[in-house]
Amino acid sequence: MKKTIVKSKPDLNQASKRTAGIIETIRFDINAVDSLIGQGKLANVQTYGCQGNVADGDAIIGLLEKLGYKITDDENQADLILLNTCAVREGAENKIWGIVGRLKRVKKARNGVLIGLCGCMAQEETTITTIQEKYPQIDLVFGTHNIHELPHMLKQAMSGQKLIQVYSDSSTIVEELPRVREYKHKAFVNIMYGCDEFCSYCIVPYTRGKKRSRAKADIFKEIDDLILSGYSEITLLGQNVNAYGTDFEDSSYSFGDLLDDLAKTNLKRLRFTTNHPHYLDEKTIKAMANHSMIMPHLHLPVQAGSNRVLELMNRKYTKEEYLEKINLLKVLVPGISITTDIIVGFSGESQKDFEETLDLVKEAAFEGAFTFIYSKREGTPAALFKDDTSIEEKKLRLKTLNTVVNEGYLKGHKRFVGEIVEVLVDGVSKNNELILSGYSQHNKLVNFPGDKSLIGKLVSVKITKANTWFMSGELI
Ligand code: SAH
Ligand code: SF4
Ligand code: F3S
Repeated sequence: MKKTIVKSKPDLNQASKRTAGIIETIRFDINAVDSLIGQGKLANVQTYGCQGNVADGDAIIGLLEKLGYKITDDENQADLILLNTCAVREGAENKIWGIVGRLKRVKKARNGVLIGLCGCMAQEETTITTIQEKYPQIDLVFGTHNIHELPHMLKQAMSGQKLIQVYSDSSTIVEELPRVREYKHKAFVNIMYGCDEFCSYCIVPYTRGKKRSRAKADIFKEIDDLILSGYSEITLLGQNVNAYGTDFEDSSYSFGDLLDDLAKTNLKRLRFTTNHPHYLDEKTIKAMANHSMIMPHLHLPVQAGSNRVLELMNRKYTKEEYLEKINLLKVLVPGISITTDIIVGFSGESQKDFEETLDLVKEAAFEGAFTFIYSKREGTPAALFKDDTSIEEKKLRLKTLNTVVNEGYLKGHKRFVGEIVEVLVDGVSKNNELILSGYSQHNKLVNFPGDKSLIGKLVSVKITKANTWFMSGELI
């Protein structure tokens, strides 16, 4: 059996400690990667979780290509398989363990295949212990803070050593990593990393580390390059984009200012996600109102509709404050579409608390929501809260909630029937090669017949039919 080199292991407790210390920016030198250890080899990268993880996956693929690898979707052909994991709920983790189990066979079938695990799960001690005890098929584990070390780590793993190299410290920002993006017309751009909110249920502040905003100049360089390459739409990314800049020594430049400055570029469409209600300020709302290039859609996770539960969750706002903010949004950005995230069955959530969530969903008139049953995350404060609601009851609450949420999706589509909307064409529909699909300004999925040559273009579509999950239309 191969020897495992444990260079550094994660520590959730250490990760939770926020020190004011200076954030160091590392400028990655792509020219220094001169080894071609992947030449003639195939790599398969499987990314799970949020857009932040997808962005990391793009950098991982960028690095692998630089090392000479070709990327494949087929894990049975690959010489290297990387699982870029998510830890946000138990279900997400179980899925990964299922895949790790399956990969044992892949590894047996083909000698020399390397298997790596990275992403948020790699940042948890329990993951490392489980791998060491149960999954010898994993050769390499690295975390969310050291993707840039991949060339070195791979070299070591290839030389026959198993390697675990995960850091809990998050006082760096790595710039200039190569990225291979999925689309040629729309891109995601990180404006910040990490999260300092510590919502009591959430593992993200531990797995992604402390809040670090990218320098304005670095953000602009990336975005200007994308615009020059013909990108029409950019989505700014962060766990809490509204808190952009609050970690700078001079915090006078805020997210709203960044929006105002981005509106001066000739980018056609700007989006941003995710937003935290506590930090959503008037400046941001006004920027949305003033600049037509900022799309009239906001994803504003509310999580719960009962003030008691919101407090237990450490969300830092009340239901009333939340409603006040979205009412202002609706006044200043007429027709805006608001979507959200909701957790049901949080520890201690009573039937009455849940009904308050239902009331809020109706009052807010959300046009979409990601809904989840609370999943206990070891190491978070809420893991210690008393939870006496049965899983059957939680499932029932989720079902009841989804019925209301789905009505909101449908209503949000119905209001466009007969209207002409602008769609950025992403590609052909999943089920029919002759149907194009893309998103409207309000972030509604639109399907319509059209030619593939329109992929990547902004087109006008007349909406003819509203369904729950998408709208259908015809090209104008
Ligand atoms: N930073 C974002 C959310 C990141 S996680 C925000 O604050 O909105 C995405 C969503 O997963 C959260 O909004 C929440 O609804 C859900 N989530 C996070 N932790 C969870 C847990 N332990 N159980 C169930 N859902 C969870
Ligand atoms: Fe998690 Fe809260 Fe941070 Fe969002 S804001 S990532 S829910 S801790
Ligand atoms: Fe999952 Fe990590 Fe994103 S836990 S949701 S991949 S930040």
